[in-house]
Amino acid sequence: MKILIVYYSQTGNTQKIARAIRDGMREEGHAVTLKFLKKVAYDELSAYDMVGLGSPVWYEMPPNVRRFVEEMPPQAGKLAFSFCTHGTMPDLYFPLAVPRLMNGGFRVVDWRDWYGDCTVQIFPDPYYTAGHPDAVDLEDAKEWGREVCQRAERVRGGETDLLPGAPAPDMMPMHANAAIDHLGGFHNVHGRLVRDPEKCLYPKCHICMDNCTMGYIDLAARPQRYGSRGDACDDCHGCTYCELLCPTGAIHPAVPYEEAAPVGQEHGSALFETVLSRAEEEGKFRRLIPAEEVGTKTPYYSRHPRHPRRKQLSFEDD
Ligand SMILES: Cc1cc2nc3c(=O)[nH]c(=O)nc-3n(C[C@H](O)[C@H](O)[C@H](O)COP(=O)(O)O)c2cc1C
Ligand code: SF4
Ligand code: SF4
Repeated sequence: MKILIVYYSQTGNTQKIARAIRDGMREEGHAVTLKFLKKVAYDELSAYDMVGLGSPVWYEMPPNVRRFVEEMPPQAGKLAFSFCTHGTMPDLYFPLAVPRLMNGGFRVVDWRDWYGDCTVQIFPDPYYTAGHPDAVDLEDAKEWGREVCQRAERVRGGETDLLPGAPAPDMMPMHANAAIDHLGGFHNVHGRLVRDPEKCLYPKCHICMDNCTMGYIDLAARPQRYGSRGDACDDCHGCTYCELLCPTGAIHPAVPYEEAAPVGQEHGSALFETVLSRAEEEGKFRRLIPAEEVGTKTPYYSRHPRHPRRKQLSFEDD
């Protein structure tokens, strides 16, 4: 089969899993291409027998991944698989992602999630899932890649009863409450991001423009455009990539993290710890750092005070 794996990744977890899945599929003898979402044109898809879509969980699909699926031309029976990485709770992801793929005409062969470290500015550093995905996760992803191909070959051979139906919503009440809070106005745990033109190096720097998750930044335009509101960003599920990458701190939260962090911790910590402890008891989560070492008093922003707080992802090995 010719297989295309399309992925979005901001901090590299989904990229690592995508590469492992690709390696497993290649070991099964398939021709696999791995591509970052932004580099994929819809008319390329017709050249492939199966398409995989990988993404981090941002409550559900990040808005750019959702847009990619919803604006895609109909795929008339093409095989697909779906995977994600997450920092605790994938429960909203597949019940929304898989039906969206099916509505787009895909026959979805399988889906699977893995834990990934989480570097959200106001969340603990180290985070509960620090160390994931590790070598065990990557071996598992490789094996899953092989299994997806085997199942897809059988479906192609006529065994269509192997196709699972769409996953039923299976949301924990605690997460449901958090999601309702989020959707009911708590759009972005970081609050609004703003940009200070005085500190901006454009045109010498354009890293925020080149990497904006949603294409919301145009500093060549007059007036310059920054974020979902044109002069601020607050409606992107809490994406703060531009703030992490900006080398000067020109992009910053309208309400300082010192004020927002306690809110994030209050919303997050009890929920994350409860969900992860339960997953650990059920054998679904392997804790790689002891609970007492989680940085509940040292949010990511405080451990990375210098700008840029993160480096851009490299796509060299794809
Ligand atoms: C804006 C944002 C929202 C997130 N929302 C969730 C969430 O709702 N549930 C969850 O389990 N993890 C959430 N995470 C954690 C990421 O899903 C996790 O860190 C993921 O592995 C990141 O993948 P990446 O490294 O490929 O970007 C969120 C992370 C960010 C940056
Ligand atoms: S990343 Fe920062 S310095 Fe660079 S163009 Fe954007 S706002 Fe300006
Ligand atoms: S937070 Fe920054 S990178 Fe993310 S969508 Fe908004 S402007 Fe773009």
